Amino acid sequence: MEQYAIKGGNPLVGDVEIAGAKNAALPILAAATMTDETVYIENIPDVSDIKMILDTMRGIGVAVRHTERHRVMLNAGNINNLVVEDEAMKKIRGSYYLLGAFLGKYKHAEVVLPGGCDIGCRAIDQHLKGFRALGAEVYIEHGLVKARAERLQGSHIYMDKVSVGATINVMIAATLAEGTTIIENSAKEPHVVDVANFLNSCGANIKGAGTDVIRIKGVQKLHGTEYAIIPDQIEAGTFMFAAAVTKGDVTVKNVIPKHMESITAKLLEIGCEVEEADDCLRVVASKPPMRTQVKTLPYPGFPTDMQPLITVALALAKGTSIVTESIYENRFRYVDQLTRMGADIKVEGGDTAIIDGVGQYTGASISVPDLRAGAALVIAALSAEGFSTIENINYIERGYEDFHLKLRNLGAQIELVETEKDYQKFRLKTG
Ligand code: EPZ
Repeated sequence: MEQYAIKGGNPLVGDVEIAGAKNAALPILAAATMTDETVYIENIPDVSDIKMILDTMRGIGVAVRHTERHRVMLNAGNINNLVVEDEAMKKIRGSYYLLGAFLGKYKHAEVVLPGGCDIGCRAIDQHLKGFRALGAEVYIEHGLVKARAERLQGSHIYMDKVSVGATINVMIAATLAEGTTIIENSAKEPHVVDVANFLNSCGANIKGAGTDVIRIKGVQKLHGTEYAIIPDQIEAGTFMFAAAVTKGDVTVKNVIPKHMESITAKLLEIGCEVEEADDCLRVVASKPPMRTQVKTLPYPGFPTDMQPLITVALALAKGTSIVTESIYENRFRYVDQLTRMGADIKVEGGDTAIIDGVGQYTGASISVPDLRAGAALVIAALSAEGFSTIENINYIERGYEDFHLKLRNLGAQIELVETEKDYQKFRLKTG
């Protein structure tokens, strides 16, 4: 099994190019099946969750061709199966967007219950409530979510919980419903806006994405388009925190600074300098992080996906910090791994981490529990004294393109190793 071997201690310094947003690309690829015409999508990240959904789409008759590494051509004019039950789709969350897309276009969809990172119970009741409000009969049978309608009729839907996935999924289906759909208490994340912009570029009529009320006037048909996905806010935030944790100087390029505001605010609060230009942000950390408090919230609040990253920074800060997770009930599973590197963190009530800063991590053998925690643990190891090995890195590859190569470009001592011999070679080389 491949692992990362890391020798910590180097401040990360330099520029890093941010890829397209995985969590925008997944729904946009699914939504691209709603037209029979050809769609070109640029800035697609080369990560394993995207490969999986593209393979599944090929398997049901969608023509998919990478014209470049980050550009995909899709044509869904010959879909031959509306039942998506392959094993790969059980593993990722984004598979549920095929439900909204197929229900919208074909008024029939059957998709395996979605998986994704084990960070909480991750209900999908709001998706199902939205589809039902549009007139679909929806039920779960043999592990598949099945949705069927004679016709979809626009409706007024209030989301009981702010959900990125449910907002996007219902918005996708409502695009081809009859009449107007209003989604209230919708999620406002940049990728919700990106999906709406993509659909509008295909001829949809969606207004208000990015606010908490989205209005969708159903249209009869969508057409082909060319569209570029927004930069990945979470990948950018990860490298910004990598600068903070390793006392480095990193410029993230190809970002939208407005999307990064809550992350920038916290970096300033913990004592980093942040310089902003049109499409890049530079983070300079010349001293150890300072203590603070943070609570994860839906956008524009501090993202839950960044929670492990800020915890890794605060565990090095002098004094006591508190991190409260308000989105998922099980997102501190990585804390025991961080403890192996010397962190002093108590998790209370499942949602609050009380962190006493330790000043320095020490290298250890670490196992990754989920995608974002995995990136955070790698960053911790890069700042630690001595060597670490990180296993289960397949989680990281789901959402970060060329993660270790980008880190290495910034001066990190990190290598993919497969055997004990490879690891010993790495130790000798970096010793
Ligand atoms: C998306 O998950 C992202 N995944 C997650 O990123 C991210 O953490 C999350 O949004 C929050 O920003 C993808 O886009 C593929 P939600 P999603 O619906 O859409 C509850 C990553 O690392 N809820 O906004 O599944 C739910 O349990 C991943 O890239 C319901 O109760 O998140 C959670 O507590 C990890 N009923 C909260 O809402 C529902 O029907 C927010 O979930 C739906 C959600």
